[in-house]
Amino acid sequence: IRDDAEASSAYVAQYVVDRIKAFNPSPQNPFVLGLPTGSSPLIVYRMLVEKYKAGHISFENVVTFNMDEYVGIPRDHPESYHSFMWKHFFSHVNIHPSNVHILNGNAPNLEAECIAYEEAIRAVGGIDLFLAGIGEDGHIAFNEPGSSLASRTRVKTLAYDTILANSRFFDNDVNKVPRMALTVGVQTVLEAREVVVIILGQRKSLALQRCIEQGVNHMWTLSSLQLHPHPMIVVDEDATAEL
Ligand code: GLP
Repeated sequence: IRDDAEASSAYVAQYVVDRIKAFNPSPQNPFVLGLPTGSSPLIVYRMLVEKYKAGHISFENVVTFNMDEYVGIPRDHPESYHSFMWKHFFSHVNIHPSNVHILNGNAPNLEAECIAYEEAIRAVGGIDLFLAGIGEDGHIAFNEPGSSLASRTRVKTLAYDTILANSRFFDNDVNKVPRMALTVGVQTVLEAREVVVIILGQRKSLALQRCIEQGVNHMWTLSSLQLHPHPMIVVDEDATAEL
């Protein structure tokens, strides 16, 4: 628990840097980083860029896999997760574009796209560290309430609560929010060697309470992290309101 969003993000950013450095990645043995979108990781991305620019970290031998992507909006739509990631992170660091993996929500065959994504993760030896945020309903990636805890990368219909929450990025118009997304599964996240979740603000406090003080539950998919051998949840004071 850290005082505020800035301090929580600083902790996470430094942690990610330390993990990459300790791993000492090479082209043959890259560090594989899972990444989220949303407002929660924004300060972390800003800080990672600052650390890169200050010469404290290189992303040369880092391979990334994003958690999710909307279905049916163009890749260059300002709210696509492709646009988000390049705008806030990838464009500002020395990552090779070929090392960036983001699900293609416009793939002609979405199921094949999801299967290929899992294969690509396996091909690089699995994810070393999955960074995540959560939705107000406790979803991790787009694993909405009711998602199987054994789920893998797949097409998911978004819950109405998520559509409502994300409408703030779409002119506050729920009709503009995509209805479906591609997302890594709960099991995909659980297979990462380490999972770090950042949770900020009072609006996430009920989800945090449900996920860590109650049982493992497919209605609050972050609670699956209780089954993980190496998880860490970093929160600000506001998010602890219900604990
Ligand atoms: C979306 C993403 C999630 C993210 C969530 C929270 O639903 N698919 O991965 O955790 O947004 O967003 P925010 O951090 O803006 O609250």
